[in-house]
Amino acid sequence: MLSGKHIIVGITGGIAAYKAAVLVRLLVRRGAEVQVLMTKAAKEFITPLTMATLSKRPILVENFNPENGAWNSHIDLGCWADAMIIAPATANTLAKMAGGIGDSLLLTTYLSARCPIAVAPAMDLDMMAHPATTQNLQTLAQRGVAIIEAESGELASGLSGKGRMAEPECIVEFIEGWIGRAQTLAGKRALVTAGATIEAIDPVRYITNHSTGKMGYAIASELAARGAEVKLISGRTQLACPKGVERIDVTSADEMYDACVAEWSKCDIGVMCAAVADYTPAEVSTTKIKKSDDDMCIRLRRTRDIAAELGANKGERILVGFALETDNEQANAESKLVRKNLDFVVMNSMQDKGACFGGDTNKISIITKEGTESFPLESKTQAAARIADKIENIITK
Ligand code: C5P
Repeated sequence: MLSGKHIIVGITGGIAAYKAAVLVRLLVRRGAEVQVLMTKAAKEFITPLTMATLSKRPILVENFNPENGAWNSHIDLGCWADAMIIAPATANTLAKMAGGIGDSLLLTTYLSARCPIAVAPAMDLDMMAHPATTQNLQTLAQRGVAIIEAESGELASGLSGKGRMAEPECIVEFIEGWIGRAQTLAGKRALVTAGATIEAIDPVRYITNHSTGKMGYAIASELAARGAEVKLISGRTQLACPKGVERIDVTSADEMYDACVAEWSKCDIGVMCAAVADYTPAEVSTTKIKKSDDDMCIRLRRTRDIAAELGANKGERILVGFALETDNEQANAESKLVRKNLDFVVMNSMQDKGACFGGDTNKISIITKEGTESFPLESKTQAAARIADKIENIITK
């Protein structure tokens, strides 16, 4: 499944560097072309000769060859790679990645790379649990770096806890699921909306909601991984644009409507995941509204319904809507299916713990005219895969 894929394996200076030898061997066996980059410290743990032999290419450490001045271009490496995996990733390298420091070829390549990046952290349990490491990993994850979680068990220090690098077999399995994906949606163009809209009251205040955009971003990422060309129309979120996805930033429901209507004619698939305001202030004050002793009223007008508009001009295209409900879930979702002319509705309920806003998990049901399929609480990535599977089923029907 990795045949012809260009993979950079970055090795940093931790005892788990010995496992990188097996990792490289497994990747090469699966047909990948592997370029190993090592930090100077990594060379103390495993020899360049071992890694060059297994990868069938000279390894690279320095930005240039001190003997002849030949430049090892991090930019060329970044463009060459289909994926970059840093395994093991030490606390030091993770901190530098999070801070944007480029004091080695490995780090400048990371900063230049346009491909998906993954890290497999490995360190002692206390370094792993340190708030600095935790925060650096969070920062990297928010920027779209995939984290291959360290395992718990016996550590080289003799202590026991979380910090063992994931086994090479697990890392390869992850890479196969990540970049070795069948391009089942190649040639399809998808429009995904995500995040919360912001409706201005005056230059200082606004109306919004709790959406973080995580579900919509996971869907955009999943569709892109399956080969679709994805336009992500995004309201407010803290998330980085997924690799391979084109993002158009919008603020208000009206802006999101205009952007979606402009894109829809070029698309085959629409997934309406954004939490769009149903009402917006009828008049936006150009100056800050001053308080008085009286209560005040803000008159709201209805926004235009994007999903309904796209549904009215759907033709043969596939359109998916979301229903976030607090009560009467099934009936409300079914009514949306018909009203907005959707192929299916993804329903989630505020009553389910761990579902909906903010978290990394969701519990979805997929509602079509034929019936309802309900799934367990799972990661938003898994839920996104279910939604993409359903879209594929409809296309191939
Ligand atoms: O009608 P309701 O807001 O409950 O429907 C939710 C679905 O409709 C979601 O898919 C949401 O993204 C979409 N929607 C929209 N434009 C709006 C309001 C909701 O596209 N103005």
